[in-house]
Amino acid sequence: MKIRKAVLPVAGLGTRVLPASKVIPKEMLPIVDKPTLQYIVEEAVAAGVEEIIFVTSRSKRSIEDHFDSFPELEFTLERKGKHKELAELRALQEMAVYTSVRQSEPLGLGHAILCAKELVGDEPFIVMLGDIIVSPETPCLPQLIEVYERYGGSVLSLVPLPPEVIPTYGIAAVEELEKGALKVTHVVEKPALEEAPSNLGAYGRYVLTPGIFPLLEKTPPGRGGEIQITDAIEMQARAGKCYGVRFTGDRLDTGTPLGLLTTSISFALKRPDLAPGLREYMRQTLEK
Ligand code: G1P
Repeated sequence: MKIRKAVLPVAGLGTRVLPASKVIPKEMLPIVDKPTLQYIVEEAVAAGVEEIIFVTSRSKRSIEDHFDSFPELEFTLERKGKHKELAELRALQEMAVYTSVRQSEPLGLGHAILCAKELVGDEPFIVMLGDIIVSPETPCLPQLIEVYERYGGSVLSLVPLPPEVIPTYGIAAVEELEKGALKVTHVVEKPALEEAPSNLGAYGRYVLTPGIFPLLEKTPPGRGGEIQITDAIEMQARAGKCYGVRFTGDRLDTGTPLGLLTTSISFALKRPDLAPGLREYMRQTLEK
């Protein structure tokens, strides 16, 4: 079945980038001149997604506004002849259908995904976490979708991690299948380093089958007292219904002040209108 929907859990408070994220959702902080979340929506659309489902919370209303129409602004841009800006705004509104659902209590990532159950319905879907941007030159979703189409189960994006960060990820035990696909036999949320089944961590991009919802409904609170998506995926892995892809493309973490800065620099260096000025600024600054 074609994957048409992506769930973007964006209800979290973003405490790692305070005070910037006090009244502005962390997903709306800019990378150069676009909110981080827009890059993620564009990544989904580039992979064929038609409907974006935001799982939001009470302080996140500006996320829905950003992807909705803004008639006064459009009228003003039209009147001032700012056609390029107007076309960009309209393209964003029209590139997908946007829906949203509230997660009223912060009960965990698994619970956030369960909140989207009615909007997803009985079809496979993508989950994309807001702190991670994948460089458009090395996309990840097409590989996940290809493995889903070949094997039919849920699929995780897995990256080899250094030991010091292993206890901060969902870690998978895998067996090699053909053409780069992996069978996930076991997955555990944030294990102690000694207990980690491998160095492969789930990295913010998932294809999930709708069978995950009844599993999430019976998943008890796990690590940190939260309902973890990893624990529901573990039930699929035990039943032989979970796969993985070893993702080696460029990933950019926007969940920390340093990550926001380096991601902005990395994107700006690819922009012909910004790169020469930025290079010159860095050259002069480093010479001081
Ligand atoms: C979440 C997941 C974890 C995953 C990580 C990065 O953790 O629970 O399994 O490895 O995202 O994608 P968080 O970073 O929200 O604590």
